[in-house]
Amino acid sequence: MNAPQGAPLLRFALPAAIGLATGLPYVLSGRLRAAVLTGPGPLDVLAWLVIAGAFLLSPLLGYREARRFAQALERELDLAKKRAERDYQERLSGLLLEKAHLDVILRHMADGILLVDHDRRIVLMNPAAERMLGVPRHEAVGRDHLEVTHHFDLDERLARVLATGEPETLEIRRALPSQQILEARVALAASAQERAALVMLRDITRSRQLEQMRTEFVANVTHELRTPLTSIQGFAETLLEGALEDPDTARHFVEIMHRESSHLAALIDELLDLSRVESGKFRMRRRPTRPAELIEATRSRLAPKAEKKGIELTAGVPDDLPPVDGDPDRLIQVLSNLVDNAIKYTPAGGRVELRAAAAEGRVRIAVADTGPGIPQPDLGRIFERFYRVDKARTRTTGGTGLGLAIAKHIVEAHGGAIEVESEVGRGSTFTVILPVAGDPAATPKRP
Ligand SMILES: Nc1ncnc2c1ncn2[C@@H]1O[C@H](COP(=O)(O)OP(=O)(O)O)[C@@H](O)[C@H]1O
Ligand SMILES: [Mg+2]
Repeated sequence: MNAPQGAPLLRFALPAAIGLATGLPYVLSGRLRAAVLTGPGPLDVLAWLVIAGAFLLSPLLGYREARRFAQALERELDLAKKRAERDYQERLSGLLLEKAHLDVILRHMADGILLVDHDRRIVLMNPAAERMLGVPRHEAVGRDHLEVTHHFDLDERLARVLATGEPETLEIRRALPSQQILEARVALAASAQERAALVMLRDITRSRQLEQMRTEFVANVTHELRTPLTSIQGFAETLLEGALEDPDTARHFVEIMHRESSHLAALIDELLDLSRVESGKFRMRRRPTRPAELIEATRSRLAPKAEKKGIELTAGVPDDLPPVDGDPDRLIQVLSNLVDNAIKYTPAGGRVELRAAAAEGRVRIAVADTGPGIPQPDLGRIFERFYRVDKARTRTTGGTGLGLAIAKHIVEAHGGAIEVESEVGRGSTFTVILPVAGDPAATPKRP
């Protein structure tokens, strides 16, 4: 602060002092009285001028100094105000930015966040929690968490965490709106003013499902491998126990063992194939491929099998189909699988037709048969691993239940899709939908 001091004070105090120093002795000495009575002499006039001048000048200068002082003070105050305002703005924008960051984080977090006060009322809730609990935020905030979560165990844990400060973890199973398993972690969020609790919700439904699928898969694989192996073992034992002596029986048994071991080998091949496709580790050599090429290769590969079973296998492809973006070997594998199924499940005398058409940047290749069809409830599941409509019947046809699962994976790795339509007693149509080569809208973006 640069307010006037010292010298400026002297500036208006000095004339006042001179006035006093002149005026006091002048009055006290009685000269003023004499001058009034007898008339002033030149010295008196001089003294009056000095005194009057000093007493006029001093307040004038004083006023100027005071004004200058006030102005300087005002400037200082102004500066200080501006500085304070800037500080405030900076702090405010810092806070707002922090809040914005926090908002963005909360908004985009996959985990649900609930902040519950010491009365266990919901103070804050993010969109993920909203989704998980199926209650909109504006309805939840301010309410007792029990009215929103309906979970007494959580309530108990919240009370404990608020009392002890020790974090806790629990599992929340919900049946509505859908089957859901949430992992909830409860931690104390105490501030200077009050104790609150933070509930972090994580949806573990999918990972639990995957775990269960993995367990089921292992059980299925074991069972599938075990069945032919048990049969081979049984026949081998019977042979060793004496059946070898009877050449006809022995031959029959060895034939069965051969069939079972082929089935086992096929199963293992398909399992390996499936694991490669599922893990995305298989190499795809994609290139523009003419649908006619795929269809012709599939037809000629399976024509002998169709003929042997007495099934008419036909292929009709328009000439002007655009090429698809795909790995020909893999796509022939998919189509062969579909035609193989069609031949396998269609009784003798039936028809299997391969046809193709293009629409909206995609090519649709269909395999239609006049077989038994697939019941509606099974349609949604036949692409699952090991799923077979009629387990007993497919055993005799040597099916593994893996073919369609592999086909679906391969088609999806191409950015395509596989569909099925079927009517019991009339037949089934499987359609493979593939992106056209060089169509950026149709080609999936893969890293
Ligand atoms: N063309 C079809 N007609 C009738 N049922 C079919 C047809 N294709 C597949 N299925 C049913 O779907 C199941 C799964 O097929 P897939 O995965 O190829 O296994 P599989 O090794 O049994 O052929 C088959 O077991 C069969 O029940
Ligand atoms: Mg099959």
